[in-house]
Amino acid sequence: MNNRILVTYASRAGSTAGVAEAIGKTLIGKGLQVDVLPMQDVKDLSPYRAVVAGSAIRGQKWLPEAMQFLSDHRSELSRKPFAAFMVCITLSMTNAGQYLEGLKSWMSPVRDLVHPVSEGYFAGALDFSKLPFSLNVLAMRFVVLIGVWKQGDHRDWSAIHAWAESLPSRLLQ
Ligand SMILES: Cc1cc2nc3c(=O)[nH]c(=O)nc-3n(C[C@H](O)[C@H](O)[C@H](O)COP(=O)(O)O)c2cc1C
Repeated sequence: MNNRILVTYASRAGSTAGVAEAIGKTLIGKGLQVDVLPMQDVKDLSPYRAVVAGSAIRGQKWLPEAMQFLSDHRSELSRKPFAAFMVCITLSMTNAGQYLEGLKSWMSPVRDLVHPVSEGYFAGALDFSKLPFSLNVLAMRFVVLIGVWKQGDHRDWSAIHAWAESLPSRLLQ
């Protein structure tokens, strides 16, 4: 089998897509063949030696379409090296470190389906102009209003790059 890697993602407002692209670029920079695709465009995992999958977090969970992807491809993913990442706003807080351990439990439903060889946890972005109205978005606006979270792009490109750099040795043993 070749060493082609799939980096696939579920994103609603684009920040997780950007994280996936950055992971893909780092892997390409390490000489690997990489496809970066939204989960809905992935039909067949057979061309890939390994898979990296990530989702935006909503309500402390991976997006439903991301969980559906894992469930649909569970048996094939279980036979390949698999790494998982999440993108959320909690990690943008100045005291994010104190939440990291608790936040790892948001990955439990993922682990229950497919065991990752590595997990990445990244701060995302919040831009209400990119989000259609919903009660959940309204609730998020309230949390921002009271100062818990801030709008803006909080992605830490060096943390994303560092995690991506660690992947080849774990995915292609
Ligand atoms: C409706 C809604 C619910 C969210 N729920 C959470 C949450 O429970 N915990 C968290 O840390 N971030 C939460 N976020 C923040 C997103 O995870 C963050 O903005 C992420 O970067 C969005 O990714 P995307 O741009 O790929 O959609 C929520 C955002 C929205 C709009």
